[in-house]
Order: sequence, then C-alpha cells, then structure tokens
Amino acid sequence: MQRIFIRTFGCQMNEYDSERMAGILLKDKDFSIVNSEEEADFIIVNTCSVRQHAENRELSYIAKYVKNKKVIVAGCMAQNLKEELFKLYPDLYAILGTSNFSKIVDVIKNNKKILLDGEFDIYERKFQRPKRIDGLITIMQGCNNFCSYCIVPYVRGREKSREVNDIVKEIEDMVKQGYKEVMLLGQNVNSYYDEKTKTNFPQLLQKIHNIEGLLRIKFMTSHPKDLTNELIETVKKGEKFVKHFHLPVQSGSNKILKLMNRKYTKEEYIEKIEKIRSEIPFANITTDILVGFPGEEEKDFLETVDIINKLKFDDAFSFKYSVRKGTQAEKYGDTVKEKEKLRRLNYVIELQKKISYDINKSYIGFETEGLVYEISYKRKNELKTGTINNKKVFIKGDKNLIGKIVKVKLLELRGSSFAGILL
Ligand code: SAH
Ligand code: SF4
Ligand code: F3S
Repeated sequence: MQRIFIRTFGCQMNEYDSERMAGILLKDKDFSIVNSEEEADFIIVNTCSVRQHAENRELSYIAKYVKNKKVIVAGCMAQNLKEELFKLYPDLYAILGTSNFSKIVDVIKNNKKILLDGEFDIYERKFQRPKRIDGLITIMQGCNNFCSYCIVPYVRGREKSREVNDIVKEIEDMVKQGYKEVMLLGQNVNSYYDEKTKTNFPQLLQKIHNIEGLLRIKFMTSHPKDLTNELIETVKKGEKFVKHFHLPVQSGSNKILKLMNRKYTKEEYIEKIEKIRSEIPFANITTDILVGFPGEEEKDFLETVDIINKLKFDDAFSFKYSVRKGTQAEKYGDTVKEKEKLRRLNYVIELQKKISYDINKSYIGFETEGLVYEISYKRKNELKTGTINNKKVFIKGDKNLIGKIVKVKLLELRGSSFAGILL
C-alpha cells in the first residue's frame, strides 16, 4: 500500500484536479490518501504558475521534501518549467502536466518520469469524491484569450469544452452522492461551447438546472467581453442559480486594458455591470484588479481607483503585476517600481475593504434563503450557510439541516460573513 499526500496550490480548477487525482487513486486498492506530508510515501504537489510568487513558494515546498519523499510535481508549474525541474531537483520522482492528471496511477506504478503532452485530459466521471454539500466540476479546459500578462493559455492550452452529457452525468452522480450545489469551473465559462450538440453556456446552465435534487448552481470565471444578456436572463430566471458574477475588470484605464488585450473598454464594462444590477437587484458582483502593469501611470491607476469607487464591487481580489516568461507583456518590460506597485496594491485593498464593509452592513436585517453546508470550523455550535447571492451566514441550528435550504435573517457582520438566525 502506497500512502499519498496531495498538496494543492492555485485556483479552484487545481482543487478539482486534485480531488480527481485523489478519487482515481482511491479506486485502486494499492493506494491510500493521507493527511500530512510525514505519513506519506508520495507527495503530489499540484502547482500554479500565475505569478512568480506562487512558483517561488512551490519551489521551496518541493525543496523541503524532495530528499526524503517521492515528490511528483503536477499541474501548471510542471507544464511551465518542464524538464528544468529535474535540473533544479534531480531527486524528483516525476512531473505531470495539465492534460495528464487522469494518468496519475500510471505515473506512480510504472515510474513514468515525464508526462507533459496530451491534448485533452480524460475525465473519469465516477471518482470517489469528498463528502460535502458543495462540489466543484470543471466544464472546460484552457483559455484562448491571451491576455498579454497571463501564462494560463500557455500552461493550460487552448480552450476545450467538455460534452454536455458528460457534465450532466457527472453532476447527476454527485447529486446521488449527496451533493446539493455545484460550482462550474473554467477560465472563461461564458465561451463554453459543445460543438457536438451545439450547446452554449446559458443552454448548458438550463440543462443543469433541470437536474432533480440539485439545489444550487454557481459558476466562475466570466470574462466581461463574453457576458451576454442571454446569460443574465438565464441566471435571473432560474431559482437554482446563485446570483453572483465574478467579472475581473483588471484595470479602469482604457489604455491599460488595450495593452492587456482584454478586448473591452471601461465604458463597456460599466454598462454590463449596470445591466446585471438592473435585472438582478441583489446580485453579488466581485472582480480582480491587477496593478502595476507595464505603462501604468498614476493617472491610469487613478482610473482604476475611480471604477472601484463607482461600481462598488462586493469584493475584489487584487494583485501586483508579475512578469511571466513567454507572454506578450514580457516584451513591455516591468516599468512600475516594486515599491510603487505595493503602494497601489495596498491602496486598492484598503479602499475595497471599506466598500465591502459598507455593502455588507446594508444587508443587516435582510431575510433570505440559505443552503446549509456544514458545521462551522470555528464554532461547533453553528452551521455555515450560503445565501442565494453568495453571502456566508452562520446560524445556530440542528445538524440535520445540513443540505437543506432554510430561511435566515442576517443580524451581525463578522468580517466578510454574517451571524444570523434561523427563521
Ligand atoms: N481566467 C480568469 C483569471 C485567471 S488568473 C480571468 O480571465 O479573469 C486570476 C487572476 O490573476 C487574474 O484575473 C489576474 O488579475 C491575476 N493575474 C494573472 N496573471 C497575472 C500576472 N502575470 N501577474 C499578476 N497577476 C496576474
Ligand atoms: Fe488569463 Fe485572460 Fe485567459 Fe483569464 S481570460 S485565464 S486572464 S488569458
Ligand atoms: Fe489555476 Fe494557477 Fe494554473 S490560477 S490554471 S493553477 S496557473
């Protein structure tokens, strides 16, 4: 029996891929999954390459274990650094790219050193998943957008959508296992398209909405350029759709948006947000902000500050620009000084904190429906619930309520979540 520990860095697509690897390994009686590095024979490190900082953390994690454990580097950094990883760490057991997660058993059993090729990963629908109420499912791989700063299209390849029936069957299996909510994942879910059945993203959403026993549906990420009225209408009408859009704006300056190759202007972005808000009044809208892109002058930055002030996002994930080798933006240099990047980053973080606080405060007293997920980690006498617009509310109640939708009232702010009561 080989004991495996999986450490996941990066985005939710990586989390899903790690769950898939664990599930595939568990189907084989030769493997068990353990909960710490110390207990493990093999450590699989599922990696991210989106910023240099992420790679640095992953490299030092690998360095820590590579001498004493059999370490397999999987995912985006494996795909990015390739054989170079063996030069850095000759003791590595194997590297496994982003289209090869499904071959993890082969890698371990047959000591395959390098698996980086492959067009599309094979999705094993029936794998043993963790016992939860809310689950992840990747509906498409890769990205075709080539935003000039971004490494994802290089490490995850071109966009490929999974077949509708395959996705629907996987979700039906999840529901049979007790799942009540799914989060559909893709770098740009709006451009989902199944050639075989000519199904676009809103049509896929409708099919998933029809699955009996499923109570909630979320998705991310939506690229603003592909956000259609059809999608807004679909989300508005379907009661199972969580009213939340994650729409990364990146910058409020048209000059920078153009250099970033985002394919929308500030005005077009604002129009889309206003459309969502007029159709779905309580919609939760979150974003990503990227500061310090090459050529970003103070006046460009102030336009970003301006759009944050104007649109009042529920939340924003803010990042400092990090040069990625091989991208278009690498050629633009790294013109904003580190200290200045940090100042801009801290400024938007602080600004957003205040905005999030004000928005959340306005929800106090609000009555809504919450799906009960689990017993709270911190307070064992409380249950964690999620509202239809994706706010977290902790309530006191019986654990038999887990998996059910209940009426809740939001009473008090606790950071970015709420304490509430069961009605
Ligand atoms: N597909 C998603 C984003 C994936 S990466 C989308 O298009 O929105 C998540 C976030 O990381 C991006 O929105 C961006 O803000 C940030 N990011 C991407 N590349 C980066 C880089 N080179 N440096 C810093 N942040 C980056
Ligand atoms: Fe990267 Fe842009 Fe694709 Fe998002 S849409 S993954 S930021 S290239
Ligand atoms: Fe995700 Fe990072 Fe790869 S954001 S797709 S794990 S580069």
